Amino acid sequence: MTDRDREIQAEFPLFANRRLVYLDNSATSQKPQCVIDAVNDYYQKNNANPMRGLYPLSLDATESYEEARQLTAEWIGAALAEEIVFTRNASESLNLIAYTYGEAFVKEGDEIVVSIAEHHSNFLPWQQLAKRKGAVVRFYECEPDGSFSLDRLRELVNERTKLVAVTQVSNLFGRENDIKGMAKIAHEKEAVFVADGAQSVPHIPVNVQELDVDFLAFSGHKMYAPMGIGALYGKMELLEKMPPFLYGGEMIETVTKERATFAEVPHKFEAGTVNAGGAVGLAAAIRYMKRIGWDEMLAREKALTKLAFEEMTKIPHVHVIGGDKAEDHLGILTFTIDGVHPHDVAAVFADAGICIRAGHHCAQPLHKHLGIMSSSRASFAFYNTEEEIMEFIACLKKIRREMGYAE
Ligand code: ALA
Repeated sequence: MTDRDREIQAEFPLFANRRLVYLDNSATSQKPQCVIDAVNDYYQKNNANPMRGLYPLSLDATESYEEARQLTAEWIGAALAEEIVFTRNASESLNLIAYTYGEAFVKEGDEIVVSIAEHHSNFLPWQQLAKRKGAVVRFYECEPDGSFSLDRLRELVNERTKLVAVTQVSNLFGRENDIKGMAKIAHEKEAVFVADGAQSVPHIPVNVQELDVDFLAFSGHKMYAPMGIGALYGKMELLEKMPPFLYGGEMIETVTKERATFAEVPHKFEAGTVNAGGAVGLAAAIRYMKRIGWDEMLAREKALTKLAFEEMTKIPHVHVIGGDKAEDHLGILTFTIDGVHPHDVAAVFADAGICIRAGHHCAQPLHKHLGIMSSSRASFAFYNTEEEIMEFIACLKKIRREMGYAE
C-alpha cells in the first residue's frame, strides 16, 4: 500500500472497522467520514421539515436542501438547479419518467427502444408502461464485445419511437456508451432520450448539456453518499409539461374539495417530506469527490482495472465478459469460470474476506442474450488498492482447484 492508499482508505471508517477487500462498488460504495459527519451534523444542528416552517430552523433546512440541489445540478452540468428532482434512487427516477412522461405522451402502437444491456431499473418501467399503453418495446442489441453500434440504433428508431432508454455504462460490461451519438439519433425522430447514469456518474465526469440527453437518472449511494437519495435530471421544457408523479404535501399550489393545482418544477415531483439528510449527504459526497478530483479518481480506477484485467485474462478457464481491452471496462470486470457456478465463486471469495457480486446483477435479459444464466463481478472504486486486486487474483486462481478440478 502506498502512503496515498492509506490516506484515502483512512477516510472510510468501514475499512477500519471490518477487515475485508471491498470489490462490489457497482452495487454500492462505502461512505467517507465527511459524508457521515455531514448527515449527523444536519440532524444535530439543522433538522426541521424543509419548505414548511417560517422559523429559522426550517429556513436553514430548506437552504441546505436547495444548496444540495444546486451542487448536484452543477456536478452533472445541468443549466438549472430546478432541473434536478430528488428521488430515492435511479430506479425511482426512471419510474418517475415512466409514470409521468410515459403516461402522458406514450400511446397505443408507439414504440420504446431499450438496450439489451439495461439493469432491470431501466427496463421494467418501460416494459410495464408498454403493457399499460399497448405500446411496443424494441430491443437495441449489443455487439458480441458489449459495444453498441449507432447504425443498429438508426435502424430501430422511427417515427413511432417515443422514447429511447440506454445506460451510459452497463453494470455488466462496464463500457462507456456513445450516449451523445444515441441521443442525436433519437432526437432526429423526435423521441426523448433517457440515460441511466447509475454506473457512470460515480466514475466519469458527466455533462448532460454536452450529451444532450433529455433525462438522466442516478443514485447517491453508488457515489459515496447515503442510500435513499438519488436524482433525476430532466430538461426544463419536458419537466414542465409532465404531470406530477406522487400526490401529497408540498407538491401543490392550491387545493379545494374538488380540484388541485400543482407546484412549480421540481417541487411538483417531490411529494411529502423529503430526504433532506440524504440530500445533504449527497452534497457532502460531491464536495468530497471534488476535493479528490477527477484526475486522481480516474487515474486510480484505470490503473486498478488494467492490473485486474491483465491478470484475469492470464488465468485459464476465466472469461471476462465484454470488451477484450482493459480500457473497455470502467472499473467493472464481470466474468465466468468454466465449470464453477457464480454462487460457489462468491462463496470462495467471501471465505477469503473479499466482497464481489454473483448472480444475474439485476440484468436477466442481458444474461439470456449472452447465453449464460449468471456471472460474477468485481467492481472497483478509487479507494481500492493494487494489493487488494492481487488478493482478488490470488483467490481467483485457486477457485477451480478448490472445486476439485486439476487446473
Ligand atoms: N444495479 C446494482 C448492481 O449492479 C444494484 O449491483
